[in-house]
Amino acid sequence: MAAINTQRRRLIKGVGFLALSSLSPPLLAASANALSPEDRVSPIQPAGDGVAYFPDGRLGKVIPRSGELLPVIGMGTWRTFNVGDNPRLLKSRTQVLKAFYAQGGGMIDSSPMYGSAEAVLGHTMGRLKQREKVFAATKVWTSSTQQGVEQVEDSKQLWGVQRFDLFQVHNLVNWQAHLQHLLALKAKGEIRYVGITTSHGRRHHDLADIMKTQPIDFVQLTYNIVDREVEDVLLPLALEKDIAVIANRPYQGGQLMRRYQSHELPHWAAEIDCRNWAEFLLKYVVSHPAITCAIPATSQVEHMHENMGALRGSLPGENYRNEMVAYLNKL
Ligand SMILES: NC(=O)c1ccc[n+]([C@@H]2O[C@H](COP(=O)([O-])OP(=O)(O)OC[C@H]3O[C@@H](n4cnc5c(N)ncnc54)[C@H](OP(=O)(O)O)[C@@H]3O)[C@@H](O)[C@H]2O)c1
Repeated sequence: MAAINTQRRRLIKGVGFLALSSLSPPLLAASANALSPEDRVSPIQPAGDGVAYFPDGRLGKVIPRSGELLPVIGMGTWRTFNVGDNPRLLKSRTQVLKAFYAQGGGMIDSSPMYGSAEAVLGHTMGRLKQREKVFAATKVWTSSTQQGVEQVEDSKQLWGVQRFDLFQVHNLVNWQAHLQHLLALKAKGEIRYVGITTSHGRRHHDLADIMKTQPIDFVQLTYNIVDREVEDVLLPLALEKDIAVIANRPYQGGQLMRRYQSHELPHWAAEIDCRNWAEFLLKYVVSHPAITCAIPATSQVEHMHENMGALRGSLPGENYRNEMVAYLNKL
C-alpha cells in the first residue's frame, strides 16, 4: 500500500497529464399466465420500492437517508480507467466518459487502490468540463489512520472536485478510524454521504454488524444475477436500516457477458425493455428493491451505450426476476 501512496503522490505532483409484461411461449409457457404487465415497474405508472423517474425518463432510485434521486446506472473505474498518461488511452477514456454524461449516468466510483484511475478521471472530467454531472464517489484504502486523512485530500486534487458526494471505507480496511474521520467530514459539510465497501462476498458478517451499529448512508457490495448471496441478509438489512446500496461487479468482472452474450435473449426480454444482455443483466441488479445503483465498468464507448440503455424503460418485477434467473439456469 505504501507503493500505491507513493504512486498517488507522484500523480498529484506531476499533474502534467492532468488538465488538472406478459411473457411469450414456448419457453415460459408454464409461467406465462402468471405474469402480467403489473409484474414490471413502468415509468408511466407510480413506482414503488424507491423507484422514481427523472423528467427525461431516466430510471432513478431514492437515496433513503436524504430522498435524493440517483440514476440507477453509474460507472466503475477499476482497471478500465487505470491507464496512466498514455495519450491515446486518455482520449479513449474521455470518449467513454462523454458517452456516460450524454446518456445521463450518475455515480462514478473509484479508489486509491485503482492505480492512476482517479488521476485519469480528473483529466477526463477536466476535458469535458461538466463535473457537476457527476455524483463523485471514492474511497479510503489504507491501514494507516494518518494516510487515510491524506488520501481524502489527495483524491480531491486528483479528481479536481471541491467536495465528494460519497466517501467510502474500502473493503472495511481500518474502518473504525476511517469511519470516524469521514463522519466528522460529513458533519462539517465536506462530504455528503459516508459508506463502506466489500466485494466478492467477503466479510459479510462484519458488514452486517457495521450496518446495524454505525450511521452509514451507503454500502457497496457485489451483486449480480449469479452472485445473489446478499439477498439473504444484507439487502433486507439495508432496507430495514435505510442504507443505500451500490452493486459492484454487476457483470462479475465481465465473466457474465463472456458466458451469455453468444446466447439468445429470452423471447420475453422486450417486455421488460431489455434489448441486449447488458440491459438484461443490469436490470436484474437494479430491480432489487434494496439496490440504489449499479456501477459497471467499461473501457469502450459502445459498451457504455449498451450499459446506459438500462437507465430507460421498465424494470422487472419479482415474477420476471425469477424468470430471468430460471432462464440463465437453463443455458
Ligand atoms: N471492494 C470494492 O469496493 C470494489 C470491488 C470490486 C469492484 N468495485 C467497483 O465496481 C466496479 C465494477 O466492478 P468490476 O469493474 O470489477 O466488474 P464489472 O463492472 O462487473 O465488469 C467489468 C468488465 O465488463 C466488461 N463490460 C462492461 N460493459 C460491457 C458490455 N456492455 N458488453 C461486454 N462487456 C462489458 C468490461 O470490459 P470492456 O472494458 O471491454 O467493456 C470489463 O472487463 C469497479 O470498476 C469498481 O469501481 C469495488
